[in-house]
Amino acid sequence: MHLFFAPLQGYTDYLYRNAHRLLVGGVDAYFTPFVRWDGSLRNKDVRDVLASNNEGTPVVPQLIAADVDELNPLLDLVEQQGYRRVDFNMGCPFPLQTGRGRGSALLARPDRVRLLMEAFRQRPGLQLSVKMRAGFDNASQGLEVVSLLNDYPLEFITIHPRLTSQQYKGSVDGEAFGRMLSASHHRVVFNGDVGSVADIDGIAQRWPQLHGVMVGRGLLARPTLAAEWRQGTSLPEAEVLRVSLALHNRLFDNACRLLQGDQQVLARMRAFWEYQQPLIDKKSYKRLMRTSSLRNYEETVRNMQ
Ligand SMILES: Cc1cc2nc3c(=O)[nH]c(=O)nc-3n(C[C@H](O)[C@H](O)[C@H](O)COP(=O)(O)O)c2cc1C
Repeated sequence: MHLFFAPLQGYTDYLYRNAHRLLVGGVDAYFTPFVRWDGSLRNKDVRDVLASNNEGTPVVPQLIAADVDELNPLLDLVEQQGYRRVDFNMGCPFPLQTGRGRGSALLARPDRVRLLMEAFRQRPGLQLSVKMRAGFDNASQGLEVVSLLNDYPLEFITIHPRLTSQQYKGSVDGEAFGRMLSASHHRVVFNGDVGSVADIDGIAQRWPQLHGVMVGRGLLARPTLAAEWRQGTSLPEAEVLRVSLALHNRLFDNACRLLQGDQQVLARMRAFWEYQQPLIDKKSYKRLMRTSSLRNYEETVRNMQ
């Protein structure tokens, strides 16, 4: 069974992915946060998918688009960068995207999904996977899109079984996932609320036919999770913290080298710690999140090593 690192906008940028692959690993592929077309490409998005920034890391760029006009420039970009695989976002619940007809809004528009799938067909050099939710307002929408996708060649479908209104909260709907899994002729990957080795094992047992599991926040909180699952052993908490600090140090060095100004570096590093709050003591966490001085920040981290 495959284990994939989910895309998380603001967290799993190329600096993080490269450091994680080098120092921790255990992940078959890292999916980039979505790349969008807003009349032009954003420099930040382009930097994140440049082949030269992702050397040695198995990366699948993810695209978000409402229609073929938005999609084509993104496909041009990933083709120019030499990618052979691409992921398409039909799961994003953020109103800024759904309001433009992107992400999970597409689940209520199967007519548009068809047009987009036809556009992907025009790019035979790119293997496509799709990441989707259970539905926009109800779970029959996800099921309808899964059936429609049976008509197109896909590498796999990742399903996050929540509705758009749930964002990332409330319980994941295992029943809806099971129905979508049965309806799909494609390989299917489970995504949602996986936080431990036991969670991964439980999912693999419940749905043995799964192609894989995609983990987001669980891996941010415990970067060793995939490696632990592969080794079949859980690491002591002290070792998890040691690995996390090594990951931190590499990310920090690269952030200082590549980002502009102390405040940008501090904002990036706050995102690094956000999901790892349980790993570190409360006082250090508060200091890291509050300080506006790079010197104080470095001192706090030194005291944690
Ligand atoms: C802050 C944040 C940013 C996210 N950005 C993306 C994104 O760019 N593309 C995407 O497909 N999903 C995105 N997601 C969804 C995650 O990939 C994943 O589907 C979701 O967090 C559920 O999985 P998890 O419980 O393992 O984290 C994001 C989620 C969060 C919380």
